[in-house]
Amino acid sequence: MKHIRNFCIIAHIDHGKSTLADRLLEYTKTIEVTQGQMLDDMDLEQERGITIKSHAIQMEYGYENEHPDFEKGQYVLNLIDTPGHVDFSYEVSRSIAACEGALLVVDATQGVQAQTISNLYMAIEQDLEIIPVINKIDMPSAMPDEVEDEIIELIGCKREDILRASGKTGEGVKDVLDAVVERVPAPEGDKDAPLQALIFDSVFNSFRGIIAYFKIENGSIKKGDKVKFFNTGMEYVADEVGVLKMNMMPKKQLSTGEVGYIISGIKNAKEVQVGDTITHIDNPCSKAISGFQEVKSMVFAGVYPIDPSDYENLRASLEKLQLNDASLTFMPESSVALGFGFRCGFLGLLHMEIVQERLDREFNMDVITTVPNVSYMVYDKHGEQKEVHNPSGLPDLMSIDHIEEPYIYATIITDTAYIGPIMTLCLDKRGELIKQEYISGNRVEIHFHLPLGEIVIDFYDKLKSISKGYASFDYHIDGFRHSKLAKLDILLNGESVDALSALTHVDNAVGLGRRMCEKLKELIPRQQFDIAIQAAIGAKIVARETIKCVRKDVTAKCYGGDVSRKRKLLEKQKKGKKRMKQIGNVEVPQKAFLAVLKLD
Ligand code: GTP
Repeated sequence: MKHIRNFCIIAHIDHGKSTLADRLLEYTKTIEVTQGQMLDDMDLEQERGITIKSHAIQMEYGYENEHPDFEKGQYVLNLIDTPGHVDFSYEVSRSIAACEGALLVVDATQGVQAQTISNLYMAIEQDLEIIPVINKIDMPSAMPDEVEDEIIELIGCKREDILRASGKTGEGVKDVLDAVVERVPAPEGDKDAPLQALIFDSVFNSFRGIIAYFKIENGSIKKGDKVKFFNTGMEYVADEVGVLKMNMMPKKQLSTGEVGYIISGIKNAKEVQVGDTITHIDNPCSKAISGFQEVKSMVFAGVYPIDPSDYENLRASLEKLQLNDASLTFMPESSVALGFGFRCGFLGLLHMEIVQERLDREFNMDVITTVPNVSYMVYDKHGEQKEVHNPSGLPDLMSIDHIEEPYIYATIITDTAYIGPIMTLCLDKRGELIKQEYISGNRVEIHFHLPLGEIVIDFYDKLKSISKGYASFDYHIDGFRHSKLAKLDILLNGESVDALSALTHVDNAVGLGRRMCEKLKELIPRQQFDIAIQAAIGAKIVARETIKCVRKDVTAKCYGGDVSRKRKLLEKQKKGKKRMKQIGNVEVPQKAFLAVLKLD
């Protein structure tokens, strides 16, 4: 154990975590010098520059410093990669729990950002040794001295404890590796105690099933052992155990402090829960490693095939996606407007986007996704509690005692110039200011309580535009709170369109109804009859717009001449219709279902 170091890299998005990781892997000759990044292997990740799925990789480092406390020689450094987005913060917390130290990487041109802070808090909570690294010092706009001040202010370290590096030029990479050996504590634990291993991640492999990654806190595991997963209670044989180099490397046995993988014929991703504890069936540990949580979907949306005959294909695609994404949930749902589809549950907005994109790219599915909403806790007059994932699933208003909605604790870091507009935005979104602190000269950290339901609508875009991109935002879920919510219905020619219903705060309901009607008037094309668009709360109509009829003759432009050109235009019109849904007698384009996201 003396020669093992388990560490992770925590950083705000784009501060250079993956690039620096690559340099560490190259320096230790774990990988060949390459272009491109090794740790992100999904297409999408590459494109978005976000590490979606965490991985772990083992390096061997020849430590050569003269140091009174450390022997020269080979050290095993396990780098546990953490996902980089708020939606995956529970996974981050489990990866962090598997480490003894963390590199806190801060971009020399950007300074401390919201995610730097939220990840740092998680690492401090787990008692990790923090090694601050200022990255991108090669850039002309780098301000390492200012960023040093911010880091000292943030974690109270000494100036000389802060490393400087460049993932681009490789400068400072040796210092980082030496610091990992000298400053990250070796893992502790009892080799002779019953097995206790923390699952911090899992991946799906089409040949081998689900592969779980773990860190052994106590005891050891051998190939062929009979093991049990504590929280699921499922039992398996360890068909293969090993360590993670660039490829999986089977081993006969792994012991306390080591990081590795187990293959045991698991087919269903749901059986391997991040945070679960692996132990032996025969000599089990007395309790699970603390900190386990069931991952819960917080954001929901309806996903419907454009072509109703694709329903079964859509189900099969979602099932396949779920094989390697256990946090995706779905249930059949039907909508009067959209027909048969599924209500999908996501960890957050980014997760939802990823799933949508994968459905499109990997499965070629043409779908309509409805406006996302959060999960609500509805209490009836008898004190019974029910979770509602869809505004149209709200029980009869008369039977409801009260409704609770999820709240978040949000951290925003911005330039002082934008405090005003950001405060206004957060207050408009029903936020409550918790505190505001200055980080350095012109940068400020703002903390808010906000309803998650307001964030899933158009918060990110608005924040970005009012701060000209100079605001970073991070959040975690912070419980449910009693809210006065109203259900707003939209009617087209008198017919209620369930897919357009929304739950909103009573004070905002009328305004929202009015703006929805105006927006839908823009989005729904004129048809051969008048279309009435109405917004209603219960039986009361609160807003109305009318789309006047028109007889649109697309061929009028062709002066009766060229037949083939005429046919082409008609074809084009037909294609346009494919993305339309017929509701009653009204043709509604897909973008209308997302109208609420586009309100000004
Ligand atoms: P996420 O996975 O999205 O959290 O990003 P990341 O923190 O892993 O950042 P990544 O390594 O993808 O780097 C972000 C961008 O900064 C890329 O365009 C890198 O090429 C660039 N970059 C990273 N490190 C350095 C550096 O030391 N110097 C310079 N000039 N650019 C760097």
